[in-house]
Amino acid sequence: MTTTPYPHLLAPLDLGFTTLRNRVLMGSMHTGLEDRFYNYGKLAAFYRERARGGVGLIVTGGISPNRSGWLLPFGGTLNFKGDVYNHRRVTNAVHEEGGKILMQILHAGRYGYQPFVVSASPIKSPISKFKPKELDDAGIEPVAAMDPFRAELDDFRRRTQGADYPETLVTCYLTGGFLTDFFTGLAAGLPKALGERVSAVLDIDAGQDALVVELRTAIDASARLASRLAMWGRRLVGDTMLVARSSLVTGGQLPGEERIEPVFTELISAHTRRMDALGLTA
Ligand SMILES: Cc1cc2nc3c(=O)[nH]c(=O)nc-3n(C[C@H](O)[C@H](O)[C@H](O)COP(=O)(O)O)c2cc1C
Repeated sequence: MTTTPYPHLLAPLDLGFTTLRNRVLMGSMHTGLEDRFYNYGKLAAFYRERARGGVGLIVTGGISPNRSGWLLPFGGTLNFKGDVYNHRRVTNAVHEEGGKILMQILHAGRYGYQPFVVSASPIKSPISKFKPKELDDAGIEPVAAMDPFRAELDDFRRRTQGADYPETLVTCYLTGGFLTDFFTGLAAGLPKALGERVSAVLDIDAGQDALVVELRTAIDASARLASRLAMWGRRLVGDTMLVARSSLVTGGQLPGEERIEPVFTELISAHTRRMDALGLTA
């Protein structure tokens, strides 16, 4: 009787979402063909040969998630529709031979041989001549991170600007108060150090007391102004709630209404108290 040390090597493997025909895996090896769209025909032929040879699963060479992660200038990415079409030539070839292929996402970090490299520290890799840009704690460019929200926030600011000085002050007091409460609540759910930093920023005295004194004096002196500002306050709370709700959307979805409702009930009570402080009916 012959024994083999790998009795399962050539047996199929059910991964639940797909089944590999055996457990032989070809490791990730960047060929350089991934980086130029005109080489994808060659790359597909290269992997087709391996699949025809019987390997169960192939891992592609590294494909970068973005420009700073390129291994070399204009390295392979999967960012655009065109990249998907290129990649599909590879997957189709492998599938036609009964194999499976997995795309490796590889961010080159400081090893990238290109000028946009980023890393945890600004220390050059011995194998690249480019010094990486140091990432901050979160690795996020604030302007780029806010860009998707810019149009909506600009629109919110335009709608809540106020026609004159008293309306503008009411906006500062009411929307500022509402959004500070809202984001302080959200900060409680962030990782500890980050949550504390966000709360500290939100906690900075925004001069709310001075706004109340200034507005109260004007409102007490004019019933007409009081009724106009009461209307304005009601309009503001609607717009502010909308913008607050929209910031809860992640992956195109709002959390369930049963989670949002209690939070907003509390925020509206605080809004009513702010209106009371001005002597206005919410
Ligand atoms: C030319 C070449 C390119 C490679 N490209 C990648 C790559 O893109 N991503 C990766 O994770 N590993 C890459 N590797 C590492 C291989 O995956 C690894 O060498 C292979 O799985 C064999 O493992 P071993 O070197 O520890 O024996 C590459 C290796 C070579 C030789």
